[in-house]
Amino acid sequence: MKTIFVTGCAGLLGNHYSRFLLNKGYRVIGIDNLFGGYLDYTPNHEKFSFHHLSLDEDHERLKDLFKKHKPYAVYHFAAYAAEGLSPFVRRFNYQNNIISSVNVINNCVEFDCKLIFTSTMAVYGCSVPPFTEDLTPTPCDPYGIAKYAVEMDIKQAGVQFGLRYNIIRPHNVLGIYQNIWDKYRNVIGIFIRRTLDREPILVYGDGEQTRAFSDIDYYMEPFYQLIDGHDEEIFNIGADKHWSLNEVAEIVRKTGEKYGYSNTIEHAEARLEVKDAYCNHDKAKNFLSFKDETNLDSLVDKMFNWAKDQPKRELKTMNYEINKGIYSYWR
Ligand SMILES: NC(=O)c1ccc[n+]([C@@H]2O[C@H](COP(=O)([O-])OP(=O)(O)OC[C@H]3O[C@@H](n4cnc5c(N)ncnc54)[C@H](O)[C@@H]3O)[C@@H](O)[C@H]2O)c1
Repeated sequence: MKTIFVTGCAGLLGNHYSRFLLNKGYRVIGIDNLFGGYLDYTPNHEKFSFHHLSLDEDHERLKDLFKKHKPYAVYHFAAYAAEGLSPFVRRFNYQNNIISSVNVINNCVEFDCKLIFTSTMAVYGCSVPPFTEDLTPTPCDPYGIAKYAVEMDIKQAGVQFGLRYNIIRPHNVLGIYQNIWDKYRNVIGIFIRRTLDREPILVYGDGEQTRAFSDIDYYMEPFYQLIDGHDEEIFNIGADKHWSLNEVAEIVRKTGEKYGYSNTIEHAEARLEVKDAYCNHDKAKNFLSFKDETNLDSLVDKMFNWAKDQPKRELKTMNYEINKGIYSYWR
């Protein structure tokens, strides 16, 4: 029985993929510091074990886990993916997203196991969409810069030590077990949480910025195909169809109405963000049998139904390293 490490196992991608691997018969070692995920999101399964550690700090404990379990592959999902917030928490962003990854890379090299790393569409920054994998990344915020730095470090380890790896650049993934109690990220989750709290749905700026949202279910099989093949390749994965945030807000409002919530949609000051961001996914479709059949209405309905039965959780707030220019809704 092969053992796979899944970092960020209490988060959206990590907990769904851990379940997927367990169903396939793998043993899964889940690692998470619960900064952005919840323990009760992790699978309850005899072949799953949870290890509460911070990848950026607990490198000795991480090494011990590698020594003991000798994983076949590592899916490294752990990160704090708050793109808009990242300029205000720069040190935290680089410490958490780069140093954590470096500790994972060191061990993958040392213990000779494949690394599958989730980067982000944010590495394309202000390039002209649709983004293809061969574009030279030009990230324009600290989150994207951190992810691109890790991509480059992984490639270097590939050249020097023969590290086997893949880089995935997902975007706007949705599903149950998403953190909806974090006001800095996961826009649909934020809309749902505000609806449940009977607060206005807050759209930043004019709401005409577009994003392509996709159902987490479509990611599982493509992730799995990387466990043994396609070494050194980079793949965009995500939806082709995009929606404006005004359209998305209306979908959430209508869904709420169905469940007895009558919320208004309001607009707040614009954030510094890319207006239109979407990728080309031909490579994942051709090589990983990726297909996206996301039905946003029914997915939002499923998430809403799940969210309304969740325990009330504390809303996440961060200590800003820079207060200058912080948006009114984050003060
Ligand atoms: N969800 C998306 O739309 C999306 C889009 C692009 C890229 N990604 C990338 O995919 C990965 C997973 O995203 P997600 O949506 O599941 O995020 P998530 O926040 O739901 O899960 C990430 C998990 O990592 C854990 N974590 C964070 N820092 C850690 C640390 N230092 N040590 C140990 N654990 C730590 C968090 O507690 C959390 O449970 C991330 O790397 C993210 O950058 C996600």
